[in-house]
Amino acid sequence: MAHLMSTSCSIKISSSYRPCGQPLSQDRTVLPNSFTIKTSKSPFKRLVSKGHRAGRSCVVLATAASVSKEVSANPRSGSDRSPNDSSKPQRVMVIGGDGYCGWATALHLSNKGYEVAIVDSLVRRLFDHQLGLGSLTPISSIHNRLRCWKAITGKTIELYIGDICDFEFLSETFNSFEPDAVVHFGEQRSAPYSMIDRSRAVFTQKNNVIGTLNVLFAIKEFREECHLVKLGTMGEYGTPNIDIEEGYITISHNGRTDTLPYPKQASSFYHLSKVHDSNNIAFTCKAWGIRATDLNQGVVYGVKTDETSMHEQLYNRLDYDGVFGTALNRFCVQAAVGHPLTVYGKGGQVSVLFQISTKASMPSTFCLLFHFDK
Ligand SMILES: NC(=O)c1ccc[n+]([C@@H]2O[C@H](COP(=O)([O-])OP(=O)(O)OC[C@H]3O[C@@H](n4cnc5c(N)ncnc54)[C@H](O)[C@@H]3O)[C@@H](O)[C@H]2O)c1
Repeated sequence: MAHLMSTSCSIKISSSYRPCGQPLSQDRTVLPNSFTIKTSKSPFKRLVSKGHRAGRSCVVLATAASVSKEVSANPRSGSDRSPNDSSKPQRVMVIGGDGYCGWATALHLSNKGYEVAIVDSLVRRLFDHQLGLGSLTPISSIHNRLRCWKAITGKTIELYIGDICDFEFLSETFNSFEPDAVVHFGEQRSAPYSMIDRSRAVFTQKNNVIGTLNVLFAIKEFREECHLVKLGTMGEYGTPNIDIEEGYITISHNGRTDTLPYPKQASSFYHLSKVHDSNNIAFTCKAWGIRATDLNQGVVYGVKTDETSMHEQLYNRLDYDGVFGTALNRFCVQAAVGHPLTVYGKGGQVSVLFQISTKASMPSTFCLLFHFDK
């Protein structure tokens, strides 16, 4: 993608610009010198399907299903089941684990006793550099983050740096880590970014749709029992003038009735990429029996969790700029500096917000960091 090679961008974000990469104060913790990093190295291997699947039943195990339902149907997953209860801790791959949701999730799961691997291309840090943006909170490199985590807790989080659109890399990662579950946050997640120009629109859809498609194929080929947890967005539904149902709606038409996927009305190329993801996930659940939970949820807010508060090198990012800053973060920062709050749309939208803090107990599954904070 041309825009990933260039260092300049035609948009101006002057009101929110700040130099990124502020130095951290001296680390008071003695950090280890090594930890596990895996990167793609071997030539492309021909993929061989494990086992014969022609006879597998075509049942949708879970799409857009409530997490609690899924957990009760699957006793292997869920925070109620302590990893210590079993002889072998569950292995969770967090794709996009260097990002806002992924970093907090990876630490939380590691702290709970799961074996965790972060997979990330670090492309988000590249976006920041290219657009002249940065987190309001100083964030350490992923390497220093993981060293610090190891020093404080003694726990190792494996790191695989690479692009999930590269199926060779993803295959190696799956075969090396052998996940029991994949939590997939690894997408370009800004609607404004996807609307800057053609190149970024194309990048967003290619990155998100192909990345997720590759994850689905990797599960099918290498880890067919693996549970996928994918974060979509409420924006997939748009703003219809009727209640939004959980995934499906029952419709009567010309005397016949059916329960169909709820119509999606995305309003950016980013949101459209999420709709395509959801369709691909639902399709592979039906066609291959993939086990997936596709969460179409609202904005996450907040910075601190029990784990990210342990040390300044574990701080999570706080985006407040016009491209990656989410609404509540921006409102808070604007209020703090006496800047008028930005009005989004007509200013009348009501939305659900999720707090990132883990102070409340984890709701029923290992996969959700967020608790409903009314
Ligand atoms: N932040 C929110 O409020 C919110 C709300 C609803 C849904 N979501 C969804 O949650 C996910 C994570 O959001 P976030 O706020 O943590 O975003 P983020 O930009 O902070 O993190 C995304 C991470 O994924 C990585 N990534 C992107 N493409 C990749 C690829 N092809 N291969 C490997 N790594 C890749 C990036 O480098 C980054 O570290 C996104 O899918 C987003 O749409 C976020």
